[in-house]
Amino acid sequence: MKQRDQWTSKIGFVLAAAGSAIGLGAIWKFPYMVGTNGGSVFVLLFIICTVAIGLPILLAEFVIGRKGQADVVTSLKKLAPGRLWYMLGWMGLAVSFILLSFYSVVGGWILSYLARAITLRLDVADHSEYFNSIISNPLEVLLAQAVFMGLTIWIVQSGIRGGIERASRWMMPLLFIFFIILAIRSLTLDGAMEGVRFLFVPDWSYFTGTTLLLALGQAFFSLSVGVTAMMTYASYLPKEEQLGQSAVNVSILNIVISLLAGLVIFPAVFALGQSPAEGPGLIFVILPAIFSQIPFGNVFMIVFFILMLFATLTSSISMLEIVVSTGIRQRHERRKSAAWVFGILIFIVGIPSALSFGALSDVQIFGGSIFDFADTLTSKIGMPLGALCISLFAGFVLTKAQTDAELRMHPIMNALWKFLVRFVVPAAIIVIFITWIIELSA
Ligand code: PFF
Repeated sequence: MKQRDQWTSKIGFVLAAAGSAIGLGAIWKFPYMVGTNGGSVFVLLFIICTVAIGLPILLAEFVIGRKGQADVVTSLKKLAPGRLWYMLGWMGLAVSFILLSFYSVVGGWILSYLARAITLRLDVADHSEYFNSIISNPLEVLLAQAVFMGLTIWIVQSGIRGGIERASRWMMPLLFIFFIILAIRSLTLDGAMEGVRFLFVPDWSYFTGTTLLLALGQAFFSLSVGVTAMMTYASYLPKEEQLGQSAVNVSILNIVISLLAGLVIFPAVFALGQSPAEGPGLIFVILPAIFSQIPFGNVFMIVFFILMLFATLTSSISMLEIVVSTGIRQRHERRKSAAWVFGILIFIVGIPSALSFGALSDVQIFGGSIFDFADTLTSKIGMPLGALCISLFAGFVLTKAQTDAELRMHPIMNALWKFLVRFVVPAAIIVIFITWIIELSA
């Protein structure tokens, strides 16, 4: 068997893990989930879920992935011979398949906006109507989604990943700086404080089981946990690296970028008299409006959408990576064709999601659009379930001696983490899940 690739440096791994985590989850999904779920309560629950549940699972994925040193199915078979845990790998493949099928739709929207920013066509009176006219045009959404998937496949199959990760070393900080500038502009608009209150002063009437599950799903989605993506990345990690610090860094960065996205969007939402509950179009409605209030706004907007596209691609490649690496199980020579075959299949499965804002907008599944259904299947069901299994695996299948040897943190931290993944995390996921089901059936 060929020697498996390894990250050439710790920074390579951290960049890839952070690149996978930071993407549409923090920048697009977080603001719209906050907007449709009552603001601050969701923000608070999201932070708690990230720190208390997402972070321990992220670390669990790092531990299992590095210990296994192979694709997820092979690793789990090796670590728990003769047991069914390896099914978790196939579940991760299925969930990331569906995730990418609708993620690529939004990736396509970004391409559409980038093209419009370049051709100076974003100076419109009604941004909400404009957004709807774009996403309901079947030809445009499908073409954009296809281009986005094409880019993702091309990066995964051509081995230029290293270059992408190195580029994210300056692209991500630049995106961060842009966010700060935008937040300042947004916060200095007339009436902006209403948005800050919306983000930080809790309205407890929104505290429900559904909000809690949504916040948990958001924490998982934006950390890329529960689908074995991080396990896959950690399997390429050399033994000497410290895992704890990387997991903490990725989690903090993710919370900071999410909050910053909130501080960009909500002050402007209220100052410009828009609805916070706009839904998936929220950032596409608000961002062009903010840029129009900045000198040379259009130039900045082009750069911004390029940076956003970049952040989105570093996430989408990790989703395709799980599918490809599990699908081919180490036969390197077939990697190229596998990337294309799976990538095209994912595109095809994503077509109904892409069309669910136009041609298929009348089709409802469980009271929501096809796009919502794909999101529900993954964020509300697949990822929490995957996270639960990962937590139990790290807690009970791997012995304390084994996990301690991988973690190499302070003994108290090792023990705390073991306690969390054994009892607190599984119990929390199960309770949140059951509360949601009870609410659904009420
Ligand atoms: N964390 C990514 C984002 O926030 O955009 C989405 C994601 C990537 C989820 C990879 C799951 C995954 F495996």
